Amino acid sequence: MELTECIMNRSSKRDFKNIPVPKDLLIKLIETSSHAPSWANSQPWKVAVSTGKTSEFIKGKIYKLARDGSQGSPDFPFPEFWPEEQSKNIFETGKQRYEFLGISRDDEEKRREISLNNYLFFGSETAIFVYMNEKLGHWSTLDCGMFVQNILLAAHDLGLGACPQAYLVRYPDILREAFNLGNSEKFLLGITIGYYKKESPINNIKTARTAVDNILRFYE
Ligand SMILES: Cc1cc2nc3c(=O)[nH]c(=O)nc-3n(C[C@H](O)[C@H](O)[C@H](O)COP(=O)(O)O)c2cc1C
Repeated sequence: MELTECIMNRSSKRDFKNIPVPKDLLIKLIETSSHAPSWANSQPWKVAVSTGKTSEFIKGKIYKLARDGSQGSPDFPFPEFWPEEQSKNIFETGKQRYEFLGISRDDEEKRREISLNNYLFFGSETAIFVYMNEKLGHWSTLDCGMFVQNILLAAHDLGLGACPQAYLVRYPDILREAFNLGNSEKFLLGITIGYYKKESPINNIKTARTAVDNILRFYE
């Protein structure tokens, strides 16, 4: 696939078949993604892939916590405030999504169901978790972001669906338990990955972007 086409056509998928992704494909995906740039080629990212019984364990625990209203304790705290510009983008994205799906603003139950689906890997068997050591700083977070973007694009190129999910790292102690990791390893993001349902409406949302004039200035 041509790169610009891959960037323009990738989108987050939120309805998957419960089919495992072959291990060699996942290894290829991560190997490719590891060619991301990083500060002095420090390569701060680490990856835990959850499949099979591990996925069942994680889903079971985090779904229950979310359903019962636990806010969790993410290693990288979730934002509590957004400036006006970003707040507007977030509002419009949510509005577009629910209008597209025919869900009304006050349909709390349906919205909650979609939100809780996050914790079941949106029906997929597999999720990728990106973490890094606590001694690393902001610049390494930026490096990991580039690594994650490579995963999303390479997955799309391989015909796989993916959704980056902060919600998957809301309860990091469960992840450290599942992956047998110490407290010094901090979870940045989960990425549900797998074979997505192509016809599902939620997988056919194309989110808008603000006009380039709003983010770009030339200084000559
Ligand atoms: C850091 C980060 C965290 C995200 N967390 C979630 C999440 O928890 N649940 C979810 O459904 N989508 C999540 N997303 C996906 C965004 O909602 C999505 O990327 C955005 O709306 C743009 O849509 P697109 O990916 O289809 O272009 C996250 C994306 C990023 C980059």
